[in-house]
Amino acid sequence: MSAKKILGQYFTTRYTWLMPQVEEFIVQSKCGVAYDPFAGQGDLLQAVTGLGDIQKLNGLDIDPKLNWKLNDSLMGIPHINNAIIITNPPYLAKFSAKRKKIADSLKHYYQQSGFVDIYQLALFNCLLSAEHVVAIIPETFINSRFPQRYRLAQLTVLEENPFTDTENPVCVACFDGRIKPAAEIEVFKNDSYIGSLGDLEKHRLIPRNNLDIRFNDINGQIALRAVDSPDPRSPIRFLPRGELVYDLKSIKDSSRLITLISLSAEWDEAIPQIIQISNNILSEFRQITHDILLSPFKGNKKDGERRRRLDYKSARAILEKAMGATGLLKGNFKESYYEEKESLLNQR
Ligand SMILES: C[S@@+](CC[C@H](N)C(=O)[O-])C[C@H]1O[C@@H](n2cnc3c(N)ncnc32)[C@H](O)[C@@H]1O
Repeated sequence: MSAKKILGQYFTTRYTWLMPQVEEFIVQSKCGVAYDPFAGQGDLLQAVTGLGDIQKLNGLDIDPKLNWKLNDSLMGIPHINNAIIITNPPYLAKFSAKRKKIADSLKHYYQQSGFVDIYQLALFNCLLSAEHVVAIIPETFINSRFPQRYRLAQLTVLEENPFTDTENPVCVACFDGRIKPAAEIEVFKNDSYIGSLGDLEKHRLIPRNNLDIRFNDINGQIALRAVDSPDPRSPIRFLPRGELVYDLKSIKDSSRLITLISLSAEWDEAIPQIIQISNNILSEFRQITHDILLSPFKGNKKDGERRRRLDYKSARAILEKAMGATGLLKGNFKESYYEEKESLLNQR
């Protein structure tokens, strides 16, 4: 296995991450030292040279070939006075380390920390070492329950890839020393402000799990193409099963991208309506949240926007709302869904 894969040596050679708001954060920190404890070739340190009060650069790495002071920064990061950490640490999820058969060499990091991805341990150590931290990390961070996420000052979803050798979707997370309410954490998509983290989190799709909806059932009446295709005209969609162009034998318990979903037979007549309402709910959700609560999918669409995947938990929440909006639910369920009905039916 190459050092590149084991040590996550994907260098941030392009400056697309240094958006105006990130630059402003670095300047406002008034720190005099830029410090990368996973320094690689030093590209991030180069990018901020001369910015604001930065006068000194400091790097560490575990790989002696890179000529920095040696340190295992996954075990601990020495504190430096007046430093802002600016880094892109290695990423490796525990499940993919197992798949790539490199779990043994990294086992102690996962075991000691309890984190499911190496980047989370790296970030945790950065936040212990410095008050101000700018970290380029997987975009999936937004949906994670990282313990110190309320130290964020701003979060930028980056659509233009800062790497030349991987398409991993990333965001730029800027932390200061203060724990704050989600309403004070600013979220950007590229260089545009899209709202506070608090505003966005209000729209999370959370299923109630009280209706019989089965995913990956080859007898299902509803098809779901759960990933945006590269063609912007073909986004994630709920469809009648007959319109799905796909070998149905490929649908298994583990399918996450294309599937069939079954509802009990009493819903048969309402299926076209449920599909239509579900697509309306999805498109409104995507608009209101600027798409950032949906999981990122590798590679962008042809128009440069990030491809997204609808996870089945969120798909279930959408179907539940749509079933409620048909007005066909009985008893207590009916009341709880009634309020959403009018607005959903009136959308196109
Ligand atoms: C994703 S690269 C990023 C390099 C640089 N920060 C950049 O953005 O271009 C991660 C770097 O962390 C180093 N690294 C991996 N594990 C490390 C560890 N435990 N301690 C310190 N550095 C490590 C790798 O050698 C690699 O240079």
